[in-house]
Amino acid sequence: MAERFKIQGGETLKGEVSIGGAKNSVLKLLAATILVKGSTKIYNVPQLTDVEIMLNVLSDLGAKYTYDKDEKSVVVDASNITSITAKYELVSKMRASFIILGALISRCREAIVALPGGCAIGERRVDFHIKGLEAMGAKIKIENGYVHAKAPKLKGTDIYLDIPSVGATENLMLASVTAEGSTRIQNAAQEPEIVDLANFLNTLGADISGAGTSEIVINGVKPESLHPAEYTTIPDRIEAGTFMAAVVATRGKALIKNVYPAHLTFFNDKLIKMGASIKLAEPTVIEVSCKNRLNSINFVTQPYPGFPTDLQAIAMTLLTTANGVGIITESLYENRFMQVPDLRRMGADIHQDRNHAIVKGVKNLTGATVAASDLRAGAALVIAALMANGESQVEKLHHIDRGYESFEYKLQKLGAKIMRYDDRDETSLLTKGVLNESRL
Ligand code: EPU
Repeated sequence: MAERFKIQGGETLKGEVSIGGAKNSVLKLLAATILVKGSTKIYNVPQLTDVEIMLNVLSDLGAKYTYDKDEKSVVVDASNITSITAKYELVSKMRASFIILGALISRCREAIVALPGGCAIGERRVDFHIKGLEAMGAKIKIENGYVHAKAPKLKGTDIYLDIPSVGATENLMLASVTAEGSTRIQNAAQEPEIVDLANFLNTLGADISGAGTSEIVINGVKPESLHPAEYTTIPDRIEAGTFMAAVVATRGKALIKNVYPAHLTFFNDKLIKMGASIKLAEPTVIEVSCKNRLNSINFVTQPYPGFPTDLQAIAMTLLTTANGVGIITESLYENRFMQVPDLRRMGADIHQDRNHAIVKGVKNLTGATVAASDLRAGAALVIAALMANGESQVEKLHHIDRGYESFEYKLQKLGAKIMRYDDRDETSLLTKGVLNESRL
C-alpha cells in the first residue's frame, strides 16, 4: 500500500521525544547472533521494515526469532543454521543484509550471498569486503549475481581499508571472530555502531580491541567458546539528529531523551554555529531550542567523527531558510543530493555542482507535493514541510519507514500537524483504525 503524509507547516515543535535503538547497529547485531549456537536476546530493537528484512534473512538461514513489541526486544535462536544462502529477493530489498556474509563465514566457513548492487544514493561497492576476506584466505567466486565464499581455514592477517568503510569493517570483524590468529583492520571505520558491534561480540565471547579507533584487533577464538548473551543496542544518533533538526527548524524547544550526546558532537557543534541552543539536561537527555532565524554554515560530510552523511539532507533543509549562503560538500556518496529537486519545488534556492551544493537562504518555504527518494532525503522533506507555509504532501513513505519508528506519532506528540494517508484515500489511516498509537 502506497502511503503519504499530509503536513500542515508552521507549527512550533515543543515537548519531549524518546529516541529508539540505532537501526545501523541493530541490523549488524542481529546478523552477529548467528555466530552463537543458542538464544541471544537484544533489547532496544526498533520496529522498522529494515529490521523485519534482517529477521527474514535470519529465518531463511534456519534461525528462529521472536520479537516482543512491548519490550522492544528480539530473541534469536541460531542453534540450527540450515542454509548458507542469503537470497537476492532479501538482499536487494536492503543492502545491509550483505553483512550476513561475514557472519556466515564465521559460523559455517561458507556463504552464498547475493551482491546488493547500487542504490539511489550511489554505486556502493563491496570490493573492500571481498578483498579483506580473500586476504584472510577465503576463496571467492562471483557467480550469477552472488558472492560464493569458501573458507575452510580462515587466517588472521593485516587488512588495510582504502576508505574507512562501515560495512567492510563490520563484515571483516564478524569473519575474523573465529579465524585462526589475529586480524588487524587498519583505517577501520570508527562509527559508534562499530563499537556497539564489537562490544556485542565481546559479550558473546569474542576478543576484539580498538573498536572506535582506526585500528581494530580481533584475536580469533574457538567457535565453541562463543555463548549466548543479552545486550542492549545503543540509541540511534541519526534519529536523534533528525528530531533535533526538526525542533530547530520550527524554532521550538524540546528534550531529546535516550541519546548519547558524545555521538552527536560534530552535528551539535554545527547546530550551535547556526544559532541553536543545545544543553545537556541529563547525561542522556539533550535540550534543544532555537528562537531566531538560523545562520548559514558550510560543512563537509566525513566518516565518523566528522559530519554524518546521514544528516546531510536534513541539515540542507535547515540551510534553505537560513540567513546567508551555505556550501555543502558530500564526500561519501556520489549521488546523495536527491532531495534537491523537491526542496527547490518548495521554494529553496539551491545550486548543485557535482558533490557541492550551494544553498542560498530564502525567507520561507512553501508547501508542495514531494516524494521521498531514500530514507534520509525523505526525513529531510518532512522537516521542510514542517517549516513551510501551507500544506505539503510527502509521498513514498516506505523509504521513511525503513529507518524511523513511529515517525509521525513522535512528531505529533511534539505538536506537528502530520497525518498518514493511503494514496487512494482521503481518510487518514489513524482515523480509519488501520494504525494505532501502540506503534509508539
Ligand atoms: N565503498 C567502496 N567499497 C567498499 C565499501 C564501501 O567503494 O567495499 C564506498 C561506498 O561506495 C561509499 C563509501 O565507501 O561511497 C562509504 O561506504 P560504507 O561502506 O562506509 O557505508 P555502508 O556500510 O554501506 C553505512 C550505513 C549508511 C551510512 C554509511 C556511511 C548501514 C546499514 N548503513 O553504509 O547508512 O550512510 O555507513 O556512514 O550501516 C542510512 O542509514 O540511511 C545509510 C545509508
